[in-house]
Amino acid sequence: MCGIIGCISKKPVSDILIDGLKRLEYRGYDSAGIVVLENGVFRSEKTAGKIADLEELLKDQVFLGNTGIGHTRWATHGTPSTCNAHPFFSCDGSVAIVHNGIIENYQEIRNELIKKKHRFLSETDSEVVVHLVEDYLKTHEPLKAVRLSCNKLEGSFAMVFMFTDYPGLLIGARLYSPLVVGLGKKQTFLASDVPAFLRHTKKVVYLKDKEVVQINKCQMKVVDFRGKKKDYQIDRVKWDIQSAEKEGYAHFMLKEIEEQPEAIRRTVNYPHYSTLERIRNKFKDVHRVVLVACGTAWHVALASKYAIEELARVPADAILGSEFRYAPPPLDKNTLVIAVSQSGETADTLAAVRCAKEHGTFCMAICNVVGSSLTREVDITLYTYAGPEISVASTKAYTAQLSLLTLFAVYLAKAKKTISPKVERGLLNQIKTLPDKIKQVLSERDVIEKCAEAYKRVNNFMYIGRRNNLASACEGALKMKEISYTHAEGYGAGEMKHGPLALVDGSFPTVAIVLKDRVYVKMLSNIQEIKARGGVVIAIATKGDKNIKRIADWVIEIPNVSEILSTILIAVPLQLLAYYTAVKKGREIDQPRNLAKSVTVE
Ligand code: M6R
Repeated sequence: MCGIIGCISKKPVSDILIDGLKRLEYRGYDSAGIVVLENGVFRSEKTAGKIADLEELLKDQVFLGNTGIGHTRWATHGTPSTCNAHPFFSCDGSVAIVHNGIIENYQEIRNELIKKKHRFLSETDSEVVVHLVEDYLKTHEPLKAVRLSCNKLEGSFAMVFMFTDYPGLLIGARLYSPLVVGLGKKQTFLASDVPAFLRHTKKVVYLKDKEVVQINKCQMKVVDFRGKKKDYQIDRVKWDIQSAEKEGYAHFMLKEIEEQPEAIRRTVNYPHYSTLERIRNKFKDVHRVVLVACGTAWHVALASKYAIEELARVPADAILGSEFRYAPPPLDKNTLVIAVSQSGETADTLAAVRCAKEHGTFCMAICNVVGSSLTREVDITLYTYAGPEISVASTKAYTAQLSLLTLFAVYLAKAKKTISPKVERGLLNQIKTLPDKIKQVLSERDVIEKCAEAYKRVNNFMYIGRRNNLASACEGALKMKEISYTHAEGYGAGEMKHGPLALVDGSFPTVAIVLKDRVYVKMLSNIQEIKARGGVVIAIATKGDKNIKRIADWVIEIPNVSEILSTILIAVPLQLLAYYTAVKKGREIDQPRNLAKSVTVE
């Protein structure tokens, strides 16, 4: 949560900072601010609200500083007000900070600093750090002052500092929150994520936990929190800025929904099998799989449990990242933990992986972001190649993760010899047909938009499904809640009669996932039960199903596909239904209220 950026350039940096912050706005949008160093003094502007509000404040001003830092906030400590907006400054006005994360022991440090006569102007945890650095600066140079401060902090942080007495110097530090250096020709960047500076450079250094970086004009030095010099690796980002632009779409979410055929094609065409073959023995002996994730990624875990159990005949569980370490499942050397995360920065998922590693368990990540924290903590990563996902609501990452985990389930089954080569080939061929099938589903958008128009005023939706499509029902409901702010519940269809059926009436539509699979007849009965009580049913059904057309009020068709892969196709109409409902309700599609894309706090 929160996006931070810093830049040293030969030219004024305020526009670069604002542009970078816009690309980080998915990380939080409660307040924003920048500061530049101009003629030896800080010049800053900050405000509650979005980057657009900050731009409005800046529009008649000319900022000339060549070094600056900026912040876009997702509030944790203190309300989303101007006074709690970053940057923060030391008492003497010589140090500025932007921070992403949570300082858990801030109260204790704040009390100590108050005793030393430091004055605090905000309610935030972040402000203590700049005063702490100010204190150390009395006796130490900036790099050491930051390093010593880091050693006193508990929690998670990525932060960037600048100093009036050291023009052209930026210092960054990280612990459990991402921080990337961008090495341009005439400018250097520090940011929470690559899109912040991608239009200027593709050369990046992913900082590791407990590292401090000093950037001075064109020089860069990395040390650990104890001051030991560290080597770093320069990587080249493979995607370009267009992938992180709207390119004419009204919203990133719609663009990302439409990018799904390509995202899946890239993901499944990557030679993951060769990565897995290198440690085939590990997989051969796996006798239990524990999938761990949060939010949408947890729905991927829930659906994938079925594929793994069915194909590889290994018991599998899907556990929420936020629950894992408080109730760890039995873990041993033959357990495989799979952490699923688009960002690779979700604090609860990371904490679960750390807990599993403490038990000596082999951990694998399914992740979309190269160099993210998760990928550094696990034993092996399989990447989804969905490209940058900007909209807070996850869409293309979800279907790419599902496709990749299905591919993995097939591999695991092969390693454990629970499927024949013929079945394996058949499944792999079917996975390859997914992009074309998704294109067919996308062509149903008109009927979905009409359906959204018809129910845009209802206050509640029920989503029902069975087996792997119970996960789809939960995901459909999450998408609806998240972006349209309409209450929605995902439920096992067979559970309706155990309680939720009491809610059903003409104003509480049910989205029912009813495919020609082994639970088809059961689903039809559940739908009849809803219809018999005056309920409205929006069915997502297999193309050409005449029965459902006779019963349901609306039918959205998807092409025939094997049961295991159906979750992937089902996702698309559910995403579009939530999207059009939210558009018709006039919601902020890409930046829903109270949320942020990467949840880096526990
Ligand atoms: O980056 P991650 O996949 O770890 O994120 C997990 C969740 O925060 C995320 O899926 C969230 O639920 C989405 N906003 C849902 O659309």
